[in-house]
Amino acid sequence: MLDSVCAAQSEYRLVRSPSIRFSEIISALSVALDLTQGHPQGHSMRSCLIGMRIASVLSLSVADCSALFYALLLKDLGCSSNAAKIAYLFGGDDHQIKHSARLIDWTSPRQCIKHCWENCAPDGSNIDKLAKVATIVAGGPKSGRELSEIRCERGAAIAKMLRLSDATAEAIRDLDEHWNGKGNPNRKKGENISLLGRICGLAQSVEVFLSEKGLPSALKMANERRAKWFDPQVVDALLTFQSDVDFWSGLRSNDLIGKLSLWEPPDEILTADEEGVDRVAEAFAQVVDAKSPWTFQHSTRVAEIAVGIGAQFGCSEAMLRDIRRVALLHDIGKLGVSNKILDKPSKPTDEEFAQIKKHPEYSYKILKQVQAFDQLAEVAGGHHERLDGRGYFRGVLADQISFSTRVLTVADIFEALTAKRPYRDAMDCEQAQSILKGDIGRGIDGNCLAALQQWLAKTNINSRVELQLDAIERHSSSLSTL
Ligand SMILES: [Fe+2]
Ligand SMILES: [Fe+2]
Repeated sequence: MLDSVCAAQSEYRLVRSPSIRFSEIISALSVALDLTQGHPQGHSMRSCLIGMRIASVLSLSVADCSALFYALLLKDLGCSSNAAKIAYLFGGDDHQIKHSARLIDWTSPRQCIKHCWENCAPDGSNIDKLAKVATIVAGGPKSGRELSEIRCERGAAIAKMLRLSDATAEAIRDLDEHWNGKGNPNRKKGENISLLGRICGLAQSVEVFLSEKGLPSALKMANERRAKWFDPQVVDALLTFQSDVDFWSGLRSNDLIGKLSLWEPPDEILTADEEGVDRVAEAFAQVVDAKSPWTFQHSTRVAEIAVGIGAQFGCSEAMLRDIRRVALLHDIGKLGVSNKILDKPSKPTDEEFAQIKKHPEYSYKILKQVQAFDQLAEVAGGHHERLDGRGYFRGVLADQISFSTRVLTVADIFEALTAKRPYRDAMDCEQAQSILKGDIGRGIDGNCLAALQQWLAKTNINSRVELQLDAIERHSSSLSTL
């Protein structure tokens, strides 16, 4: 079944080292979380540097520093799970809404309404705008609390899935609580909020203001919200290094991953073995798949199909493991595409499709930051390439499309065709196979399709349409309770 090139490549490993520093992987993937939140690239890493400097002033224990380090990098793990709801509520771009919300005092009704007015239905009429604002205002603080709860609880659960400490999960859960008891989601007050959560809350706000408005604004914000949003002793710790020019200019470094590696407590350096890399891929696949009810379980299903195809080629267990990982992570760049586009009930316009087409490049750039993932990044970045060179994002020809990429592409297209889209029904297996067959040699590799068919003939693969419909139903009923 294999030609000689594919046969040689079927034994390539996509992840080079069996033992990688965990912080390197997490730092790199944190950029995907920045994209989801609409923050500039590196937001989580800079927040981590700020928070770890505060921790050193407060002389936190080594164990607390280690827990804080990962809480700061992964504080936005749950951020994709409320993106669809936010885009629907505002009728706008969830990235823009989430980012701008971090620049206002949302506990002030006046600022909240102004933010709503500026961000609701930006392309609609004033009547559309008013309708959206009225819905949000009618939901009141309860709906804000619910959005925060979804995000914080989901983030804490994924942190636990990564086998991070309880202290890390708790800090993520407490991220948006305020010292004065007016934060979200649980209205915790003062020292009832975990110290690590208090540090994360301040560090993320300082970073957002720093990147958007500069250091003086960030310090002014921290002072104004001292003893309101933020623990006074944590703000005071921040102020001890306000004049450290080297520290603040260092946050503009192009090597934030390298800088961060110096802050992970040396006694507690975590490494990711084979199982650890698998867990990271599984966790981030959940983050990606939670972005839209329409993509529910897409990445995990592509992984199952891609491994099925790879197995027909006689790939080794190690290679199948890497195929599964890359399939789980292939759409990580989709976190950079707004739900306004992903969940649109009609076909995307050319302009919107241009936005969607950026996602494999985002996947490539995010994964490429991990040295041991350079081949994994190539394959993930190539999953929308076509043999005739008319794919994206590079538009390369067949001779530059590797075996693993061809396997992934066929699995991805087959999975997407057999799932529902907002603007079309799901196809059955036969229909999807016949579409793929019509594209042999131009878009896809015929050997990979034959392997898929061979696998399908002996596998009882259930459609995910039912699961998709359940996810859409959950999404719709959560909107109707507002
Ligand atoms: Fe994709
Ligand atoms: Fe995909």
